[in-house]
Amino acid sequence: MRALTVSTPPPATTVSDVLVLGGGIIGAVASWRAACLGLSVTCLDPSPGSGATWAAAGMLAPVTEASFGEPDLTALCVDSARRWPAFAAELEHASGLDVGLAESGTLTVSYDQGDAQEAGRLHALHGMLGLASERLTLAEARVREPFLGSRLSAAYWVSGDHQVDPRATHRALMSIIDGRPGTRSRVVRSAAVRLVRSPAGEVVGAVDATGATHAAGLVVLAAGADSPGLLGAVPEVVVPTRAVRGQTIRLDSRGVPEFGLQHVVRGTVQMRPVYVVPRPGGEVVVGATSEERTDHRTPAGSVYALLRDARALVPGVDELDFREVTTGLRPGTPDNVPIIGQTDVPGLAVATGHYRNGVLLAPLTAAAIDALLSGDDALTSALPAALASADPRRFSCVGAHA
Ligand code: GLY
Repeated sequence: MRALTVSTPPPATTVSDVLVLGGGIIGAVASWRAACLGLSVTCLDPSPGSGATWAAAGMLAPVTEASFGEPDLTALCVDSARRWPAFAAELEHASGLDVGLAESGTLTVSYDQGDAQEAGRLHALHGMLGLASERLTLAEARVREPFLGSRLSAAYWVSGDHQVDPRATHRALMSIIDGRPGTRSRVVRSAAVRLVRSPAGEVVGAVDATGATHAAGLVVLAAGADSPGLLGAVPEVVVPTRAVRGQTIRLDSRGVPEFGLQHVVRGTVQMRPVYVVPRPGGEVVVGATSEERTDHRTPAGSVYALLRDARALVPGVDELDFREVTTGLRPGTPDNVPIIGQTDVPGLAVATGHYRNGVLLAPLTAAAIDALLSGDDALTSALPAALASADPRRFSCVGAHA
């Protein structure tokens, strides 16, 4: 038998100031900010933006996402929501692309009396946290949003919760970081598999799935739910993200001109949360399931339940054209707070674990990355005090962090 000779070229190696592992919205933001500082950047991701970012509805909802026992997370979300208009303007200016920020407010509605009781509890929480949410009569709610269903039991107006298009935002980021002439930033479409350490223990790069090594002065771990698997060589850094599966459904209202939903509508239907996000271009996103599952399955029952609950709040969704179901894995953390900052290991920083708020927290994460990379004290002191709750070292091995 003739021997088959396969000659494999040696793996390419990149050398950058900053290597970002993960090209979802957070990794792309980290890469953009590094590029803005004039640093050379490599971002590693086999399919940038195809994970949680692709599934996300893009609600910027510090109020309607606020939950009991999470004051630090709420403070971070409130801070980041305030930063969104300037962040969107800067990104749109830099990319020349629209990111679809719509500051149109959110209506929360309840289906039955149990849902109304739950909404009342959350309204009281909003009051305690100083978050603006206003009780409406159902008649007032229908004046504001005539497309609400007929069987509702309570309504609130949340003027400060808005929305943006996550896919458009990611496209804008990629247009800047993915090899734009004149920048020293590139996206390598391969998955990181492990970190590389120097004999002294610093993190000095990563190896990707092709075996290529990517050296850098600083590695930013932004790999969402995949982050723990990359830390085998760095056991003293613990990044305990876990996958929380969610499905979103995309509908198209362009063929139904009489459907004119203007605001994000969210609420609970017999205690099951659901939201309907109408975009100015006609896309309507319905979301989202929340399941402690790590696979990408899309159970038919989850899709059925989402549509059933969405049409209970906004019956007109029945008429819209069905486009897609997307399943994504949110990167949850043990305390639901993201993990952002320098680790105790030189050369390794983290920006991940944004759970339900990756899109909302993008501007604050950008500001934290700016401060980290520049070392500018003025930028650091402009960050909210609650960002201390996102310190990666809170999960480090016992004794590793004084
Ligand atoms: N931010 C909404 C969700 O994760 O479903």
